[in-house]
Amino acid sequence: MTMLSNPATKYRAYPVLNLTDRTWPNNTITHPPIWCSSDLRDGNQSLIEPMSPEKKLRFFKTLVSVGVKQIEVAFPSASQTDFDFVRLLIEDGHIPEDTTIQVLTQAREDLIARTFESLKGAPKAIVHMYNAVSPAFRRIVFKQDKEGVKAIAVHAAELFKKYAAMQPQTEWTFQYSPETFSATETPFAVEVCNAVLDVWQPSADNKVILNLPATVEVSTPNVYADQIEWFARNINHREHVIISLHTHNDRGTGVAASELGLLAGADRVEGCLFGNGERTGNVDLVTLALNMYTQGVNPELDFSDIDAVRKVVEECNQLPVHPRHPYAGDLVHTAFSGSHQDAIRKGFSQHDSHGIWEVPYLPIDPADIGRDYEAVIRVNSQSGKGGVTYLLEQEYGIQLPRRMQIEFSQVIKAETDRSGLEVTAAQIYSLLDGEYLQASTPYRLQKHRIQEEDGTCTLTTEVLANGTLNKWSGCGNGPLEALVASLPVAVEIMDYNQHAIGSGSDAQAAAYIELRLPEQRPVFGVGIDTNITTASIRALFSALNRAKASAQLLKDSA
Ligand code: KIV
Ligand code: ZN
Repeated sequence: MTMLSNPATKYRAYPVLNLTDRTWPNNTITHPPIWCSSDLRDGNQSLIEPMSPEKKLRFFKTLVSVGVKQIEVAFPSASQTDFDFVRLLIEDGHIPEDTTIQVLTQAREDLIARTFESLKGAPKAIVHMYNAVSPAFRRIVFKQDKEGVKAIAVHAAELFKKYAAMQPQTEWTFQYSPETFSATETPFAVEVCNAVLDVWQPSADNKVILNLPATVEVSTPNVYADQIEWFARNINHREHVIISLHTHNDRGTGVAASELGLLAGADRVEGCLFGNGERTGNVDLVTLALNMYTQGVNPELDFSDIDAVRKVVEECNQLPVHPRHPYAGDLVHTAFSGSHQDAIRKGFSQHDSHGIWEVPYLPIDPADIGRDYEAVIRVNSQSGKGGVTYLLEQEYGIQLPRRMQIEFSQVIKAETDRSGLEVTAAQIYSLLDGEYLQASTPYRLQKHRIQEEDGTCTLTTEVLANGTLNKWSGCGNGPLEALVASLPVAVEIMDYNQHAIGSGSDAQAAAYIELRLPEQRPVFGVGIDTNITTASIRALFSALNRAKASAQLLKDSA
C-alpha cells in the first residue's frame, strides 16, 4: 500500500456547520475555565502500564498542589484497582474540601450501580456518564437509530437520579458526554443532551455539566468552535448548564480546538498534564494554562515549578515529555543559533524587571515557571559570539570587548566543529583560559616592579624567554606605556578595556588588550588579577605571546 494520489476516493472532508453569524472569532479569553484533569482516568486508560495506586495518589496530590479543583480519578466499574482507588481517596481523607472528585461510567445499570457504590461517603462528587452518538457509532458499533441512542442516555440519566437519591449525604453533580460529539450532527447532539436535561432538571444550585468531546479530532478547530457556539445557543437551560470541552489531539490541534471552544462560550476544560491520553492524547492543560498566562490572564493553575510537576507526571505515566514540548520541554527556552542568542542577550540586557516581558524568542520568562537562565543559551557549532559572550558574562562575570567576542568565538567554533558537541560554560571558560590566560610562550612573565617618580613610571619585568631570564625596563606616563617601551619588539596597542569581576574582598579585575605587531593583524590578550595593574600587564603579555604565535603560524604557512 502506498499513499493515494487521490485521497478523496478514501477520505472525505468533515462537513462544516452553517453558522454564518458566528461570534467566537471576535472574542478573547479573559478568564480561566473550570479545569478538570482526566489524567487519572482518560490518561491512565491509555498507558502501556496503568498507574499503581501509589502512583495515582502521587499524581492526585500533584494535581491538587497545582490547583486543579475537579479531578476525574477513575473508571470505578471498569476495574477493581480503580474502584479501590476511589475508596482510598475517600476513606483515607485525601480529598481537600475545595476539590471535587469525578468518576466515569458507561450508560449501563450494573456499571452505574457499581460507580455510585464506589463513592459511598464522599462529601461531594461528579458522576460522569457517556454514550457515543455519532452516525458511525450508531451504524457500525451499536446498530441503533437516533432514538435508540437517545433512549440509552435518557435511561442512564434516570438511573443516575435513582442511585443518587439512595446516597443523599453526598452533594452530587451529574455530567453527561455525548461521546464522539464532534463527529455528530450538532442538532442531534443538542437533542440528546436536552433529553438528558429533561430528566436531570438543572437549577442554579444544581448545575449539570455537558461535556462535548472531540473524541477523535475530525476537522479544523474552527469547525469545533462553530459546533460549540451552535450548541451553546440551542441547548435548553443554558444558564444552568456548564459546557465542558474534551478535546483529543489526532490532528495536532487539541489546544487550538479548546481555545476556540472557549471563545465560543465553553465554561470548562477537561484534559491531561502535558497532553497524555488516548492515541495522540488529550488537550494539554499545561499549555492551555500557560498560553493564557502569556496573554496576561491568570490561569489559576500554578506551574511555578514546572520541572517538579513534569517529573511526577513522567514517573507516573512512564512517558517522557518531549524536549520540544511547549513551555516544559528541556530545549524550549534554549537558543543555539547565533542570531537568536544575540537577540535574546540584548533582550535580557534591556529588560526592565518590572516591565512588560519582551525578550525576543522567549514567549515566557523561564523564571516564572522555575527555570533558570542557564538553559536559555547553549553553545554548539551553530552558535555565534552572542551565546559565548552571554555564558561567560552570566557564569564568570567576564565581559569580553566587542571585537574580542568575534575573535574568541572563532576559538569556540573551531572546537565545536572539531568535536561536533555542545560546549558548556565551564568548557568555554577553560578554552578562554588556555587560549589567553595561559599564553606564555615565548615570553613568560616572572615578576614585575613599578616605580613612580616625578610623574614618570618605570616598569621592570623579569621574563623567561627560550630558557633565559631577561630583565626588561622602560619608562612612560603609566605602567602600560612603560611596559611597551621596555619590550624588545615594537608593538602598537589598538584597544584597552578593563572591568571588575565581583565585588568586595573577592573582587578581581579583568583587563583586555588588543595589540598589533608590525604588519600583523591585531590580536587580543587577557589578564585577570586582584590588582588591575597586574591584570593589565598580564593582558599585554597574553596579547604579545598570541601575536608572536600567530606571526609564526603565518611564517610557517608562507
Ligand atoms: O474522548 C472521549 O469522548 C471521552 C469520553 C468518555 C468523555 O473520553
Ligand atoms: Zn477522551
